[in-house]
Amino acid sequence: MLDISGSVAVITGGASGIGESLAKYWVSHGGKIVLADIEKEGLSRVAKEIRELGGEVVTTICDVTREEDNHALAVLAIEQFGSINLVLPCAGIIKDGLMLSVDRETGNVVKKMPLDQFQSVLDINLTGVFLTVRECTEQMIYSDSKGLICLISSVGSLGTAGQINYSSTKAAMSVMPKVITAEFFRKNLAHKIRCVAIAPGYVATPMIKGMNKNALDKILENVPIKRLVETDEIASLVGEIYRNEALAGEVFYVHGGLRLGSKG
Ligand SMILES: NC(=O)c1ccc[n+]([C@@H]2O[C@H](COP(=O)([O-])OP(=O)(O)OC[C@H]3O[C@@H](n4cnc5c(N)ncnc54)[C@H](O)[C@@H]3O)[C@@H](O)[C@H]2O)c1
Repeated sequence: MLDISGSVAVITGGASGIGESLAKYWVSHGGKIVLADIEKEGLSRVAKEIRELGGEVVTTICDVTREEDNHALAVLAIEQFGSINLVLPCAGIIKDGLMLSVDRETGNVVKKMPLDQFQSVLDINLTGVFLTVRECTEQMIYSDSKGLICLISSVGSLGTAGQINYSSTKAAMSVMPKVITAEFFRKNLAHKIRCVAIAPGYVATPMIKGMNKNALDKILENVPIKRLVETDEIASLVGEIYRNEALAGEVFYVHGGLRLGSKG
């Protein structure tokens, strides 16, 4: 079993939500944090709160869509702490909409999802994650670090109407652990650097809590635990996967029993 104490987590999208929660969980278990985001104020707030918890943290502005920002992030982690043991790429966005909106009466297509609405979600949620993982893992290899790459998929990976952009990125995230684990196994690295994905359901972050109440109530009708998943429940799952080296190459759902296929 690995120990979180003394280990170093690199977290993108760390100024809010799941990334913020994991950062606090990590330091409360003795770990150190490199926290990245594009939101300067959010980063400062989270860093201050982490220091109040007695944790060690370094922050950096990093736009995950930029190759050089991801490289600088990975190098910063090594310069500051000498290793990278957890990579948690949490930077993500949603820009929901239908691919085609068709008027029921006329049958005419009244709106098409603009290319930018599709592409911008791919740029952050997919290309951004690829770049963060590629750069951090390179530094893990050079620094002989042992640990985990934990991607954030979603139940949206199974296909949610109105989320062709988001769902596509999360489906991609579900296949990456298999690819990365197989590639690292070939290169005799897979026993040192594991890769998994977690797939949360509806989590109580600003993104979801800001939804309109009717839409949220409708969602909760299908959640057997009758509430949103809490961010500390996500953090605790990541902590357990980190510690348990038998957990590798797989996607782990955390959704409170959300009725996906079965509506019984
Ligand atoms: N909240 C949920 O219900 C839920 C469910 C499943 C999966 N997820 C996934 O978890 C991850 C975190 O989501 P969250 O709910 O904590 O969201 P959040 O909005 O609270 O946090 C996302 C963070 O990403 C940052 N970010 C956005 N674009 C960026 C960029 N280009 N570079 C760097 N940082 C950037 C934002 O500033 C923000 O701080 C996302 O990948 C999301 O898709 C969330």
